[in-house]
Amino acid sequence: MIEITHLHKRYGSQPVLRDVTARVVPGTVTALIGANGSGKSTLLSAVGRLIPFEAGRIDIAGTGVHDWHHRELARMLSILRQAPRLDLRLTVEEVVEFGRFPHNEGPPTDEDRAAIEDALGLMSLREIRDRSIHELSGGQRQRAFIAMVIAQETRYVLLDEPLNNLDMKYAGRVMAVLTTLAHRRGRAVVVVLHDINMAAAYADTVVALRDGEVVHVGSVEDTMTETVLERVYGVPFPVVRVGERPFCVYHTHPASRAPEQAPEQAPEQAPEQAPERAPETTPPDHR
Ligand SMILES: Nc1ncnc2c1ncn2[C@@H]1O[C@H](COP(=O)(O)OP(=O)(O)OP(=O)(O)O)[C@@H](O)[C@H]1O
Ligand SMILES: [Mg+2]
Repeated sequence: MIEITHLHKRYGSQPVLRDVTARVVPGTVTALIGANGSGKSTLLSAVGRLIPFEAGRIDIAGTGVHDWHHRELARMLSILRQAPRLDLRLTVEEVVEFGRFPHNEGPPTDEDRAAIEDALGLMSLREIRDRSIHELSGGQRQRAFIAMVIAQETRYVLLDEPLNNLDMKYAGRVMAVLTTLAHRRGRAVVVVLHDINMAAAYADTVVALRDGEVVHVGSVEDTMTETVLERVYGVPFPVVRVGERPFCVYHTHPASRAPEQAPEQAPEQAPEQAPERAPETTPPDHR
């Protein structure tokens, strides 16, 4: 089990995690949700021992996260960061092989090879296994990083927005694979998600952060209500049912529009009022 107890984290004078207490149980998928800047990546990084924290405890399988030997921890816990970077020129297969690093000292064993093949297959990467990671599309690269984490075969699996760049088919595939790892192999999976409907479709438990605080923990049914979504996101996004499932209709909600397009001022389909060119939204480091 992962037990987070009264965790506090600051960046300079800014509190980023405030008295966070949560637990993650093996055999389940926990979706970590919350608005941009609410502290999700910070929490995951603290659990993965990638950043220090000021106060509180994090225990992994009963041992403080800082008390684990580095290699033992890497055999126990894997983490996919939000924007994984790899400066080395590696092929897809070599990236996935990296996931086996904590398990072996020398060349890959049969067990390593089986885990690598399994992960490559699950992410449909076998045909591009020899391609350099730098030559791939965004989604292909993301699948390679996910495959690396799968190949690591850890009991605790933390993934920060793994669905970034994935098309609908692969987004569903990744969630289905994570669910299988949890339910059939007893892994504890924590996955940061922005698509609340993916959380609703696959998570066993949803933990929500707002301004660094846990504001909700519950099942999908508990979570998918306008009241809870307003508590988490500040907007009472409507929830409907599609078949048996709750489904949040955020795509066209007025709160999703830019301020100048607020409903009372929005032009009715007036192309001549559209901006002459698209705003420059490409981040400077976009490649
Ligand atoms: N290295 C850092 N130095 C200073 N402040 C940071 C640093 N990393 C994150 N922060 C701040 O901590 C807060 C939480 O950031 P975090 O990345 O955990 O949010 P998040 O919930 O993952 O958001 P997103 O959905 O945008 O990924 C934000 O206010 C952010 O600006
Ligand atoms: Mg983040």
